[in-house]
Amino acid sequence: MGNNWPSHGGRPEQILPHLGLAAHSEVIDFSANLNPLGAPEWLPQRLIESLAGLEAYPDPDYSAACRAIAQHEGLLPAQVRLTNGGAEAIFLAAALLAERGASRATIVEPTFCEYARACHHYAMAVEALPLKQEAPEHEGFVLNEALALAAMRATDAVFLCRPNNPTGTLVERELIERMLREGQRHGSLLVVDEAFVDFVAPDERLTPLLARYDNLLLLRSMTKLYTIPGLRLGYLLGAEAVVQRIAALQLPWSVNALAAALVEPLLADTDYHARTLAWLDIERPWLEHELRSLGLRVVPSCANFLLLQDSGSRPMSALLEHLARGGILARHTHNFTGLDGAWLRIAVRTRHDNTRLVKAVADWRAT
Ligand SMILES: Cc1ncc(COP(=O)(O)O)c(C=O)c1O
Repeated sequence: MGNNWPSHGGRPEQILPHLGLAAHSEVIDFSANLNPLGAPEWLPQRLIESLAGLEAYPDPDYSAACRAIAQHEGLLPAQVRLTNGGAEAIFLAAALLAERGASRATIVEPTFCEYARACHHYAMAVEALPLKQEAPEHEGFVLNEALALAAMRATDAVFLCRPNNPTGTLVERELIERMLREGQRHGSLLVVDEAFVDFVAPDERLTPLLARYDNLLLLRSMTKLYTIPGLRLGYLLGAEAVVQRIAALQLPWSVNALAAALVEPLLADTDYHARTLAWLDIERPWLEHELRSLGLRVVPSCANFLLLQDSGSRPMSALLEHLARGGILARHTHNFTGLDGAWLRIAVRTRHDNTRLVKAVADWRAT
């Protein structure tokens, strides 16, 4: 808890007392970026059926799950490693760098705090590369190309979240390629966290670049799209040799058998993914429009969350507290470098929940 603020969203029992409020019986949680459609309806039954398998060790290489992911991504199974959520994939990327003797990494900020934690854990120095805010009329955050290429030259690795949590920025693929080419010349790795890529059009995935760049590592999470953060499931993708090095660094059996058995059926449920994209296609523009009409600055987002600021000068801490009093949790930004509490992040949820949020914001604006 940096500055005593909870370091992640989705923790009502922490944030409410922090704001001096009692726990509500009913809280709408906009602070964690999870799919509001909820886990696929067949999932509980599938878990029950898998219970019998708990009396055996899982396959330490999770071969069936890796084959399913490889097929889904058009890769070889040896390019895939199953992980205990995207979080383990982040720490494995840092472990790989440390094993290679890396001493310095760049992190494109503001972003998810775990890249810095993982680098520090492996005694690497971290340099921040700030996304720059465009002119207020555009309101987006952009990565400066010259600085990004310089980071690929000057440090051992660059961590980039795409789409970025919390700004929703999707750094363009051409710039990613130019960074990879610079990295190839200078021996540096580009680690791209695609934890939220499932909420973006499928052709935005960077998977095809793996055929050409062995200095690219992709980190994925299955907990956001499928709403299973409690189960923990993710994976990483890279060149065969890199993935095999990472496999040697991973704790044995880090993914439990119940989660591992879900990989194949989750990937096969293309209808669930299509329904998710259809929901987001309607809800994000609707919510953006409603919040803008209430006088908020809304950063254009390619993901399932929005970053907000008052277009006047009212502090976002006041809105955070007002919402929390009404049983609505938003995500503070105190531990996002460069945002420092001056913004709020909200997940896009169902129309029912989004309408409640808009109403609560309207009440706040009226006070
Ligand atoms: C950008 C990003 N990467 C990775 C993760 C970790 O996800 P998982 O639940 O799969 O460990 C998160 C969780 O919030 C995240 O925001």
